[in-house]
Order: sequence, then C-alpha cells, then structure tokens
Amino acid sequence: MRNYYGIALVLLLVVSSLLGCSAKAVGEGQGEGPLIMRLAHNQGENHPIHTSLSEFASLVEEKSEGRIDMKVYPGGQLGSEREAIELTQTGAIDFAKVSASTVENFSEEYSIFSLPYLFDGEDHFYKVMNSSIAEELYDETRDIGFRGLTFYDSGTRHFYTKDTPILHPDDLQGLKIRVQPTPTTIEMIELMGGAPTPMPFGEVYTSLQQGVIDGTENNETALTDANHGEVAKEYSFSGHAIVPDILIINEKKWNELTKDQRNLIQEAAEESTVFHKEVWRKAVESAIVKSKENGVTFHEVDKEPFAEAVQPLHEEFAAKESTADYYKEIREMSTEGTKGE
Ligand code: GCU
Repeated sequence: MRNYYGIALVLLLVVSSLLGCSAKAVGEGQGEGPLIMRLAHNQGENHPIHTSLSEFASLVEEKSEGRIDMKVYPGGQLGSEREAIELTQTGAIDFAKVSASTVENFSEEYSIFSLPYLFDGEDHFYKVMNSSIAEELYDETRDIGFRGLTFYDSGTRHFYTKDTPILHPDDLQGLKIRVQPTPTTIEMIELMGGAPTPMPFGEVYTSLQQGVIDGTENNETALTDANHGEVAKEYSFSGHAIVPDILIINEKKWNELTKDQRNLIQEAAEESTVFHKEVWRKAVESAIVKSKENGVTFHEVDKEPFAEAVQPLHEEFAAKESTADYYKEIREMSTEGTKGE
C-alpha cells in the first residue's frame, strides 16, 4: 500500500514534469547536469527483476558516460502497476516495469499475454518474445503515450492456496482467487470454476493473511520475495500462464531524446533482458528450495483439464479483432504443436 512518502514523491514528480524539469534533452555539452530519468516497479529490492533493472540503469549510465542519471524506485513506492503506467503516460516518470497483463487495461492487444495456455513452455515463449511479434506489440501503445522497449522473463504462473492444493479445476470451486485486475484473468478463473478477486499485487499478502482470499496465482518468487509462502502453503504446478514483464518508456520523452541516446537506451534494455534470463532461472530454483524449507508443499498437476476449461477463451481470442492475428501467429510458432503441455 502506498505510504505518505510515496504520495509526496509522486506529487513532486508530477510538478517537476509539468515544469519541464525532467523533460530537457540530455545535456549535449551545454554545461548542464545529467538528464535524470526515473523508473518505477512494484517488486522488492531483493527480487531478481530489481537486480536486472539495476543492471539496465547501470548500463544506461555507463553507455551515456554519465550524461544520463537513472533513478530506480522499487517496491511499489510510486503506486500500483496501473498507477506506474499512468505516471509514465503523463511523463511524471520516464520508465515503468510492469506485467504485460496490466497493460491489457490500456491496450486490448496486450490481453493476448493473459490468455492461459497460450505458450507451450519457455522455448515457445522466448521464440515469440524474440520475434517481430513482440516488437509490434511494443508499438501498440505509442498513441496513448508510451511504448515497450523490452521484456523480462517473469516465469510461469501457478496456483497456490492457504490450505487446499489445486490439482483439478474442481478444486477451485468456491475459492476466492486473487487475479491481476484484467478482464482476461477474471474470465479465466470463472471458466475454471473459482471466484475471481482482482487486486493489485501489493495487497495480496495481507489479503491472504486476513482470509480475504483463499489463494492466488503467480511465479515461485512471490512465495519468497513477497513472503506469500508464509501464509500460502500449497503450490500446484498448473502452469496456466507465462506472462512477460515489459519495460515501457514515455513516448514524448523517447522522441525528445537524440538518436544516440535512443540507441544506447535500447541496447541497454536488450542487454538487461539477456542478463535477466540467467538471474531469473537461479531465482526460481532458489525460491523453490527456500519455500520447501519454510513448509510449502509443491504439487505436480495434470494440466489438461485446466487447459480444456479455458478453451472458450481461446476461441474468443482467435476471433476478436485485437488479438486474432497475434493469436494465429503465436500458435503457429508453437514448439510442440499441442496446447497446454
Ligand atoms: C508478476 C509480475 C509483476 C506483477 C505480479 C502480479 O510477479 O512480475 O509485475 O505485478 O505478477 O501478479 O500482479
């Protein structure tokens, strides 16, 4: 939840952006100080994505020889992901790292990433994200004030609950399951038979603890870095979604930068994505080990009944205008030829 410090900081950033303080073109030898660029995200400082965003920030500073000074605001101190996107849209901050699912509320095309069992697995995911499909999607939001620069692996999402493992969609009956606040994730839980409870990530721990929700779904690092494993003890490998994190930048700021600055920022972004792949793999392994030590039980699950339950969503996505082409192209790049493996 946002604190007073966060609110004050947001106000300060909004005022300074209105006054144009952070919108100057980078000091190109005019004796000005460095250009300050701000980036917000909602994970803690020990989370792997913070490590990789800090790497991005260092790379930008190095490549610009100190003419760009990056400030990273972790832990949702500037607000939820939705708020971080809004701050980026208005130019109060320059960058945000958010889940691709959150972008669905701004651009329907992005709903493709919340579609359960869209990707066969990690290989299929990386193949698509390293193709021109991802680049097309990054451009979809340019006319609403921001663009995507790169993606970060945020693993595979699975269900976890306080006390009842989710081995079959029937096990979701009557359970309140927190989802990311998007139409697609809400529909997914409804089709599987649970009661969807949309809320921002920062509210999940307390909601689990207080019994507002019975469970949620996320990658394994949420158990350790966000401490969800302290209260949710049953983690079931349903593997229903692989949703990338996306690094976005304010469109106006992007266009005000010089060509060299744009190139160096793009290069730094892509290099941090490669850096993150290994950081992420190790983080997931260690989250599983630590969670087992802390009493979390991991369950293997037959994914087929879950994938069958969400077939209506696949039909919807194959037909609706905003996603039909993306859906077709992504499925054609399937590495296994079957859904939900
Ligand atoms: C992932 C993702 C976050 C997102 C979170 C969520 O952890 O990386 O950006 O906020 O899911 O479930 O909301």
